[in-house]
Amino acid sequence: MESGLVVKKIKQNSNVLFFFNDSKKWLMKVSKKQKFHTHVGIIDHKKVIGKEYGSAIKTNKGKIIYLLEPTVYDYVMKSQRSTQIVYPKDLGYIAARTGLQSGQTIVEIGTGSGSLTTFLASLVKTRGHVYTYDVDENFMAIARKNIEKAGVSKYVTMEKLDIKNAKKMPQKDVDMVVVDLGDPWTVVPQARKMLKGSGYFVAICPTMNQLEKLASALWENDFFDMEFTEQIVRTIEAREGKTRHSFRGIGHTTYVAFARKVTTPKDLRKVIHDPVIEDVSNEESVEDEGLSTVKK
Ligand SMILES: C[S@@+](CC[C@H](N)C(=O)[O-])C[C@H]1O[C@@H](n2cnc3c(N)ncnc32)[C@H](O)[C@@H]1O
Repeated sequence: MESGLVVKKIKQNSNVLFFFNDSKKWLMKVSKKQKFHTHVGIIDHKKVIGKEYGSAIKTNKGKIIYLLEPTVYDYVMKSQRSTQIVYPKDLGYIAARTGLQSGQTIVEIGTGSGSLTTFLASLVKTRGHVYTYDVDENFMAIARKNIEKAGVSKYVTMEKLDIKNAKKMPQKDVDMVVVDLGDPWTVVPQARKMLKGSGYFVAICPTMNQLEKLASALWENDFFDMEFTEQIVRTIEAREGKTRHSFRGIGHTTYVAFARKVTTPKDLRKVIHDPVIEDVSNEESVEDEGLSTVKK
């Protein structure tokens, strides 16, 4: 045992990421009766019980398998997929841009496979909650399993509800509304009703056409601090003397839209202008404030 630390041992029913290499890894619940067959040999679960996370076992073919404690990244990447999911590269910026943290209340429209739900719940727990809505019971059943596997069910309420046509909004004064629908602009007024002042609207938009329609709806519904992003992560293969970009990698996933609910008094709310065109024509306004102070 390392001094001062309680070492977590693997037990019956513990979740373990059996890690051979980056493309061969399996996330499983340990069951002492199970012998798991892989191309690198049999992983005997009995051998794993009582071991520490981070240690290793050998398969019957003598290959080394590391026993890693799964993180939310592993749960998202290994989730059963019934729909397109939101990838970690996009999840990370969503958290940073919105200040997502423990104790917050989030509404999600479009549960899908529950990968975004799992991520949101892992950050707002233990005092916060995610309310997630979908219209497809088959997707919801798969999402429920994924969320349960990640151990965050306690922080998630899932309901079958079409927010687009709902008469009454199910929540109010929430910190964030996240939308992953093909037509996110249709639920901007509903999201507005559920958000607290300055709360975040976030939308997952795989195409630019969606961003355009959404931007107009956000302006019309008095949202501000808008940002539309694409997160590009490039993996590097780092090896002595031959470090280079990896040939593998995720291509396009999605764009992400961010905006905050504001309330502009009627007399200040003149004709809605195009914020993007105005900003790029004025170099000062796109400069980071801190940098511009240094230059002057
Ligand atoms: C792309 S998936 C969401 C994927 C999810 N973000 C994830 O990470 O797994 C879109 C989901 O929106 C749901 N949906 C479509 N129309 C809806 C509506 N009006 N209200 C709620 N959900 C809806 C679909 O059934 C589908 O499950």
